[in-house]
Amino acid sequence: MALRTPLIIGNWKMHKTVAEAVAYVTAFLPQVAQMTDVEIGIAPVFTALSSVVASVQGSVLRVLAQDVAAEGPTGAFTGEVAAEMLREVGCHGVIIGHSERRRYYGETDTIVAAKVRRAFDAQLLPVACVGETLDEREAGTALPVVERQLRAIAGTLTPDEAPRIVIAYEPVWAIGTGRAATPELAQVMHRHLRATWEECFGAPAAAALRLLYGGSVTADNIAAFTSLPDVDGALVGGASLAPDGFARLVQRSQAASA
Ligand code: PGA
Repeated sequence: MALRTPLIIGNWKMHKTVAEAVAYVTAFLPQVAQMTDVEIGIAPVFTALSSVVASVQGSVLRVLAQDVAAEGPTGAFTGEVAAEMLREVGCHGVIIGHSERRRYYGETDTIVAAKVRRAFDAQLLPVACVGETLDEREAGTALPVVERQLRAIAGTLTPDEAPRIVIAYEPVWAIGTGRAATPELAQVMHRHLRATWEECFGAPAAAALRLLYGGSVTADNIAAFTSLPDVDGALVGGASLAPDGFARLVQRSQAASA
């Protein structure tokens, strides 16, 4: 029995209209329908969520949102969408604290932790992102920075939630740059994150924690990551935007971890 089911998520960011999103699913689904050893998710923009949920009905594909309000379940928060509302339209989970949210929209560790809390309270799977900038990597502080981000998330969880959250390690300098981390570097960080989880919640929770790598993952390099002992899948941006390419990426990930 695999302790951790591999998970590959396509983060579409601000791409695809409703029509484009539904057309994608129609093309993508037949190519992954037989895959039962890997969990697959896609994260469309808010406006496409309902239609995409309807079009994946009865399939293996999971739908995630790209963000969620730190507040809720309701309130005077113009422009925000509550976790319960995402759940209502059929979302399985939500990406939280992506580096683009941290960088362009000022999301702090505290906000990220609050969003994780809201997601669990609404029975959504949180996929919480951590990762260092190039400056932090070059200054030799990557490990402590990412550990700090992880501990902020840990601080909001119950022991029961700790094994169920998904953490995505995405070095900021690797996102959208075509310059993926080396597998060695990813493994060192993932091992450190798992060890930190063990300190916080004990060995069984650490052994169950799914850790995704993200940052310039492609069909060509996915196997090098998913074959690592502490990498349990990937969060994929650019290479998830075309259905055939993403299907190939998912297929290769599975071959590598089998
Ligand atoms: P990328 O993005 O695969 O295009 O580098 C990854 C991400 O931002 O999640």
